[in-house]
Amino acid sequence: MKKIAVVGTGYVGLVTGVALSDIGHNVTCIDIDHEKVKKMRDGESPIYEPGLDEVMTRNINAGRLHFTTSHEEGFVGKDVAYIAVGTPEREDGTADLRFIETVAKDIAQNITEDITVVTKSTVPVGTNDYIIGLIRDNLAKDVTVNIVSNPEFLREGSAVYDAFNGDRIVVGADSAEAGDLIEEINKPFGIPVYRTDVRSAEMIKYASNAFLATKIGFINEISNLCSRLDANVEDVAFGMGLDGRIGNQFLKAGIGYGGSCFPKDTSALVKIAESVDYDFELVKSVVSSNKRQQLVMVDKAKDVIGGLKGKTIALLGLAFKPNTDDMRESPAIAISRELLLAGADVKAYDPIAAVNAAHFMPDGVEYVGSKEEALSQADAVIIVTDWAEFKDMELSVFETEMAAPVVFDGRNCYGLEEVSRTNIEYYSIGRRPVVPEKVRVAE
Ligand code: UDX
Repeated sequence: MKKIAVVGTGYVGLVTGVALSDIGHNVTCIDIDHEKVKKMRDGESPIYEPGLDEVMTRNINAGRLHFTTSHEEGFVGKDVAYIAVGTPEREDGTADLRFIETVAKDIAQNITEDITVVTKSTVPVGTNDYIIGLIRDNLAKDVTVNIVSNPEFLREGSAVYDAFNGDRIVVGADSAEAGDLIEEINKPFGIPVYRTDVRSAEMIKYASNAFLATKIGFINEISNLCSRLDANVEDVAFGMGLDGRIGNQFLKAGIGYGGSCFPKDTSALVKIAESVDYDFELVKSVVSSNKRQQLVMVDKAKDVIGGLKGKTIALLGLAFKPNTDDMRESPAIAISRELLLAGADVKAYDPIAAVNAAHFMPDGVEYVGSKEEALSQADAVIIVTDWAEFKDMELSVFETEMAAPVVFDGRNCYGLEEVSRTNIEYYSIGRRPVVPEKVRVAE
């Protein structure tokens, strides 16, 4: 079993460190945030991730998982150092490597023995070459350092499950020995390891995320056609997915993707392409298509309820997907901005993301503590996140609480049959609207 340092305890770093300790390695997670480190030492995860606290506590108690703010303490005597700090998107769409650069210099200054540095953070193709150069230029002692690109493919909300059950582990090493070492470390996971060179590994991450984003963007555009041509996007996606070459995953139409990866990585890939004078038209379209898609339900609402000025609009769900409190690039942000701009009053409810939401959402949104409160006297509701709490609720709540039960469902939470048995006026993604008889007559 190896001695491992993991720098950065965000989603990627913390889950990676915890999982590596769970398969028997001795792991020290390093973070500059004292408060965070204190919490983690007590087995408390700073992020909402199902199952994480439990695995953390188990390994802290077994003496395999440690947390520190000290780089000296963190790197001394380690076989491997994982870099898992953020690479936020800059204004111009490129990845900001500030944190990576700091860590590279910290590693160089603090290591006392030969070490293999593994980059988990998503970094532009060529960055690992830059990182290893930076480390070698700043070394305090005469030691050998190797570099491995080992991108992560964890989904938020199922990150712990994914860490133990992923489809593949990609290892792009600068030497056979370094590659062997990382392959050996990961062996207990029992996940197939794919070995390649450093730059190809870096590209696999961007290509995978851009491909998945394209798949979602494609079905979303098809859903817009289905709406106009009276076809049903769910049947279409099912029929497409039966083709093994297409596959049935990531074909759920909705109000666009969000999160920490797809928006950032697609923009970064476009920039990476530009840096080598290549115009990546396809991914550029995916980016703009997704921006448009985030507003389809707002546009629909404007049409259906005759403008938004002075109307009260409820938002159900704020997080970019269920089972997370992550608000990064959530469609709820663009939707709220547009609603407020059009003069609507916005009342929002999310089971867990509301506290976090305030940092991301435009000013002027009112946050309430239950779906009933959000719906109370609303002129329309937009469902942004498909939380189970909304999918499983009695549809009669819309009728009893709202001024008028007009539902814009951005996640196709309900079956059309089920809705047809109510008095709800219902618009969803790529499916025919359900308009009750009396509303139709009134028109
Ligand atoms: C994603 C990738 O799945 C993961 O491999 C990568 O490492 C990080 O980015 P994540 O952002 O956690 O993970 O969420 P994911 O479950 O993939 O969903 C991303 C977004 O796409 C969400 O907003 C989701 O609502 C949307 N989505 C997903 C769809 O609209 N339709 C789909 O069919 C699938």
